[in-house]
Amino acid sequence: MTNRILITGGAGFIGSHTADRLLREGYTVRILDSLDPKIHPDGIPDYLSPEFELIVGDVRDRDVLRRALQDVSGVIHLAAYQDYLPDLSTFFSTNVVSTALIYELIVAEKLPVEKVVIASSQFVQGEGLYKDSSGRVVSPPFRTREQLGRGEWEHRDERGEVMEWIPTPPTHTAPPNAYALSKCSQEQQGIVFGERYNIPTAVMRYSIVQGSRQSFHNAYSGACRIFSLSYHFGEAPTIYEDGEQVRDFVNIHDVVDANVRVLQSESANSKVFAVGGGRACSIREFDRIVARQFGREDLQPNIPGEFRYGDTRHAVSDISQLMELGWEPKHSIEDSVAEYANYLREMEGLKNVIGRAREKMKGLNVIGSSSQQ
Ligand SMILES: NC(=O)c1ccc[n+]([C@@H]2O[C@H](COP(=O)([O-])OP(=O)(O)OC[C@H]3O[C@@H](n4cnc5c(N)ncnc54)[C@H](O)[C@@H]3O)[C@@H](O)[C@H]2O)c1
Repeated sequence: MTNRILITGGAGFIGSHTADRLLREGYTVRILDSLDPKIHPDGIPDYLSPEFELIVGDVRDRDVLRRALQDVSGVIHLAAYQDYLPDLSTFFSTNVVSTALIYELIVAEKLPVEKVVIASSQFVQGEGLYKDSSGRVVSPPFRTREQLGRGEWEHRDERGEVMEWIPTPPTHTAPPNAYALSKCSQEQQGIVFGERYNIPTAVMRYSIVQGSRQSFHNAYSGACRIFSLSYHFGEAPTIYEDGEQVRDFVNIHDVVDANVRVLQSESANSKVFAVGGGRACSIREFDRIVARQFGREDLQPNIPGEFRYGDTRHAVSDISQLMELGWEPKHSIEDSVAEYANYLREMEGLKNVIGRAREKMKGLNVIGSSSQQ
């Protein structure tokens, strides 16, 4: 049996790090990637090893995918459409259809694929789980634009008490947007098709992944990029809401460990895993970590009460299921930010990237401001 692994989206952030690791472990790696010009404006990224077999093509293209699936023992499906743009159908035509096509081709061509790993997202859990003042676990609805406009950031229970977030397990599903809906379908396809057609599958619900090679050119990117670019250029970043929202950042090398572990583990089959950092970090706290990394603790962030409509208030995943496989997050947020900062310093031509990303989001009516600040 071959030890060749196909990584779709393998030229990207998570894919290329996973590819490097598999190569080091003795696998042969084939990458199928469209080299989306938004992510790769200069074509094949310099970091991509020539030892990989690179097929430049689209995961939606049946013939290309059929070729890419020949003689592979495993597939890691990372290629995806991920943006803030309101072209709802593209999330489905890319993410949902490509996943179905992978199973369709494996079944139709009786391909001896022993494992499929599918990339999902913490976004699938939506607002996640909370405890109300009577101790009940509840799943709050997403916050309305009006509520946010009044500066009411927290989820409250029926008595008006602020509810307490709890780490959300991957069994909880409440997709709030087209991206999350498409990822939710990918998860379900992985479980249902995997079992129905006896194609061992594991699904990875990543939290916010951080490290080098994260694209600077994608508007859909988190605080790490924006804050780092700001401090790099000596500007104070803008923090949305009140900065007390907590996030769950996971280091790229821990994500790679998780990918490789589920690829190799039979006990991972037919399961959805939350892949998080195991530590809640508020955005204010994160801001200080980044400022320290860039030696700009003298700068204080702007907190003007703006919000991004559609953001979740708190997002922390329960990673215990993955830890049962022997995995644990080994890298700190500081490690991730330091790696990203080094990567950023090596890049050129980044001026105005923040401004452009911000203008783009304002143009899409995603950023609003509250009347409370
Ligand atoms: N980075 C994160 O924080 C994060 C969090 C949750 C989930 N995810 C998921 O992980 C996966 C990988 O994300 P990433 O951060 O590495 O993204 P990325 O943008 O760095 O890489 C994605 C790669 O896919 C390629 N691609 C896009 N559309 C394609 C298509 N139609 N056909 C072929 N290739 C295509 C791009 O050229 C790019 O190289 C995605 O499925 C994403 O939804 C990422």
